Amino acid sequence: MDLGLKGKRAIITGGTRGIGRAIAETLAAEGCDIAICARNADQVTETVSALKAAGVNAYGAALDVRDGPAYRNWIDTAAGALGGLDIFIPNVSAAGGGGEGEENWYATFEVDVMGCVRGAEAALPHIGAAGGGAVVIIGSIAAIEMFYQPQAYNAMKAALITYGSQLAQAVASEGIRVNTVSPGPIEFPGGSWDMVKKAMPDAYEEARSKQPGGRMGTPEDVAGCVAFLASPRAAHVTGANLIVDGGFTKRVQF
Ligand SMILES: NC(=O)c1ccc[n+]([C@@H]2O[C@H](COP(=O)([O-])OP(=O)(O)OC[C@H]3O[C@@H](n4cnc5c(N)ncnc54)[C@H](OP(=O)(O)O)[C@@H]3O)[C@@H](O)[C@H]2O)c1
Repeated sequence: MDLGLKGKRAIITGGTRGIGRAIAETLAAEGCDIAICARNADQVTETVSALKAAGVNAYGAALDVRDGPAYRNWIDTAAGALGGLDIFIPNVSAAGGGGEGEENWYATFEVDVMGCVRGAEAALPHIGAAGGGAVVIIGSIAAIEMFYQPQAYNAMKAALITYGSQLAQAVASEGIRVNTVSPGPIEFPGGSWDMVKKAMPDAYEEARSKQPGGRMGTPEDVAGCVAFLASPRAAHVTGANLIVDGGFTKRVQF
């Protein structure tokens, strides 16, 4: 199936590794021009080179999305560098880091929630000017079932689902669709589950045992679903939250 993504222009925040990197590479393989950001400048340079080697136009910058003005400005610059914008993928997360106690709540709010909200506010006018397109928010199954303990990460990912669904209603008349993809545990070298596997093998095995298919997810498992939702093939899908967890969560999804 041709997803109809060739020539589209996409911004992915946090595109240098893991899920964001797989999304960038998948969209590039479909013929999209790509802009990415992350804090580590060397990894941004390496990623941009790899994307260009795949034959598409690519642009990147070292940036912390917690710097709101710089972040909004970068979205404008990136859209300009790509010659317009059709797709926005807010993917960055404080990922359970960001200190302890209240400090952790504020850090997670600023990176996970405001990293999405500020980015969407800056990106939507460009997508509207292109005649419509798609936003795909990266959530987590941590939002939808008990996930280890009550914590900021779980609650902030829940906020993204509600924001995305209501934003979908607000911008549908402009031809812009907004969906969320909520992955289960995703394993890749250097990622959080790789670290759990090495430091806490029992905890890793407990999580893996909850996967009825017997394996953790891969970044590519997520990226393919994001590419579909970002594509014109999903033209009538908006406001949805797609769970990509191989059955890790057990609720019935009405
Ligand atoms: N891995 C999983 O099991 C899993 C499961 C469910 C949901 N998710 C979600 O999937 C998304 C990606 O997670 P991941 O595990 O693939 O990757 P990750 O290891 O969390 O890395 C994410 C990317 O974001 C960048 N980044 C982090 N903080 C940033 C900031 N403040 N400003 C700019 N860039 C920043 C990182 O590069 P720098 O460090 O260089 O900035 C990296 O490119 C997150 O939203 C996460 O919550 C992950």
